[in-house]
Amino acid sequence: MRKGESKQVVDVFKNQMDANLVYVDATDRFLDKLVDIAEPEAKRKIIGAEFIRVFEEEARKVGDEVSFLAQGTIYPDILESQDGVKAHHNVGGLPEDLQFELCEPVKLLYKDEVRVVGRELGLPENMVERQPFPGPGLGVRCLGVITRDRLEALREADAIVREEIDKAGLTIWQYFAVVPDFRATGVREGKRAYDWPCIIRCINTVDVMTAEVPELDWALLKRITARVTAEVPGICRVCYDLTPKPVGTVEWE
Ligand code: XMP
Repeated sequence: MRKGESKQVVDVFKNQMDANLVYVDATDRFLDKLVDIAEPEAKRKIIGAEFIRVFEEEARKVGDEVSFLAQGTIYPDILESQDGVKAHHNVGGLPEDLQFELCEPVKLLYKDEVRVVGRELGLPENMVERQPFPGPGLGVRCLGVITRDRLEALREADAIVREEIDKAGLTIWQYFAVVPDFRATGVREGKRAYDWPCIIRCINTVDVMTAEVPELDWALLKRITARVTAEVPGICRVCYDLTPKPVGTVEWE
C-alpha cells in the first residue's frame, strides 16, 4: 500500500460508509512469498494468489459460510489479461483452485463509466475520484526483486510526488513514483553516492486503454527532484517517463 493508504481506506469504509470492514495487515506474507522473484508476471500471479489465500482465511473466521468474492474488476483488466499484455491480479492472477464464486458487477465497464455508476450509487466523491491503484500495489512499482528498503524508499518518494502534484492543483488522471532495481552513481556532500533512481509516471486518459503523458511544469519537476533526493534515503536521481500508452503500459510491470 502507499503511504497512509491503509488508514484512509479503513476511514472511508468505517466512517463514511459505516461498513463492517475487517482490516488485515498481510505485508509479511506477501513479502515472504516474493523473495528472489524478479519476473513481473510471476510477481503478479504470486500476489494475486496470496490475496485469495488471505481472503479465504479471513472468510473462515467470519463464521458463516462465505461463498462469494466481490471484486471491482473492470473491462480493461479482462482485455489485458486475455490478450496476454499482463495478468491483472483479479483476472489472470487468480489461483486455479479458487473456492469463491466471483461477483463482479462492473466488469463490462470502463473506468470512466464505473465513476458514473459510483456517483449514481451516492458513494463519497473522494472515493469515486480516487486514483486507480493496481491490485498488486507497490509490488509492481518496486521493480524486479522487491526488498524492504527499496519498497520503503518508493513509498516515501511516491508520497512526495503525489503531495507536490496535489499542491500544484493539477488535474492528472494518475501520478506516482516507480523505483527500479539498479543504481546510479551520484555525489552527496562531496562523497560518492550509489543509490536508486526514482521515475515519475504521470498519465492522462479516458478509458486507460490508451494514455498520454502531460507536460509537467519544469519548476514542479525540479521541486519534486530536490525534495526526493534530499528527503528519501537511497535515492539519488529523478527521471520523468515520457512514454504514452501504447507503447508503454501505465505501470512499469
Ligand atoms: P496498465 O499498466 O495495464 O494499467 O496500462 C492500466 C490501469 O490499470 C491499473 N492496473 C491494475 N489494476 N489490478 C488492478 O486492479 C492490476 O493487476 C492492475 N495492473 C494495472 C493501472 O494502475 C492503470 O490504472
